Amino acid sequence: MEEFRLQKFLAHSGVASRRSAEEIIASGRVFVNGKRVTDPATKVTARDKVTVDGKTVTVTRTKTYIIMNKPLGVLSSASDDRGRKCVVDLVDLEDVRLYPVGRLDYDTQGIILLTDDGDFMQRITHPKYEMVKTYEALVKGEPEEEDLQKLRTGIELDDGMTLPAKADVVKFNGPNAVVKIEIREGRNRQVRRMLEAIGFPVLKLKRTAIGGLELGNLRPGMWRQLKHRDFEALFGKQEAKKLKFG
Ligand code: URA
Repeated sequence: MEEFRLQKFLAHSGVASRRSAEEIIASGRVFVNGKRVTDPATKVTARDKVTVDGKTVTVTRTKTYIIMNKPLGVLSSASDDRGRKCVVDLVDLEDVRLYPVGRLDYDTQGIILLTDDGDFMQRITHPKYEMVKTYEALVKGEPEEEDLQKLRTGIELDDGMTLPAKADVVKFNGPNAVVKIEIREGRNRQVRRMLEAIGFPVLKLKRTAIGGLELGNLRPGMWRQLKHRDFEALFGKQEAKKLKFG
C-alpha cells in the first residue's frame, strides 16, 4: 500500500495546501491512530486513521492536478536550460514532479493545467479528443463577418488545413478588436497564425478556457488544485465519472 508523508496525505485529502498542512501538523491538531503527531514527515497509508480537529480525513487522490493563470514572460515548460522562469517554478509543492499540459507561448497569458498524471495529460492533449481551447485575441484591425467565416470553415496554414473554429468579435477597441476564438487543435502558435493568415495580426493573446473549465478570476501567476467540479467542466459529468481522474 502506498505510503505518504503526513503532510502530503493532508494535501491529497483536500484538507489543506502542502504549506498549510505543515502548519496544521505543527500546531498539534493532527492525530494518527489516536496519537498526536507533529512531525510532517511521519509516514501514513490509507489504512491509518488520521484526524484533524477530531474529524477523520481520507485520501481522495494521489495525483496532482493544477490550474494556473500563466503570466506573460514565463515558459510553459518544466525546466529551461537558459534559466528562464517556467510555470512549474511558480508552484511551491514538494514531492511532486509536475508537467505542463500542452503549451502556451511565452507571450501568451492564461489558463494552463499542470499535472503528474500522464493519462490526464493525454486525455487533454491528444488530437483525437479534440479538446476545445478558448482564446481572446486582441487583433490589429476590425475583422468583418466574411473574415471570421474563413476561420469557421477552416483555413490553409503551412502545416495544413485547420479544423473549423468558432470565431466572433466580442469588442471593438479603437482601431483594434477582440476576437473570441475556439479551436480543437493545439498546433504551434496556431491562433496567431490563423488570425495573421486572414490579415489581422495578434497584439495580445489570452487563453480563457479549456473545455468548460474557465480561468475565472485567477490572477496571473496564481494557481489552485482542481476540484471535482473542475473535472466535470473539463470532460462533462458522465465522462468525468468514468475517467476517475483526481
Ligand atoms: N495559439 C497561439 O498562437 N499561441 C498560444 O500560446 C496558444 C495557441
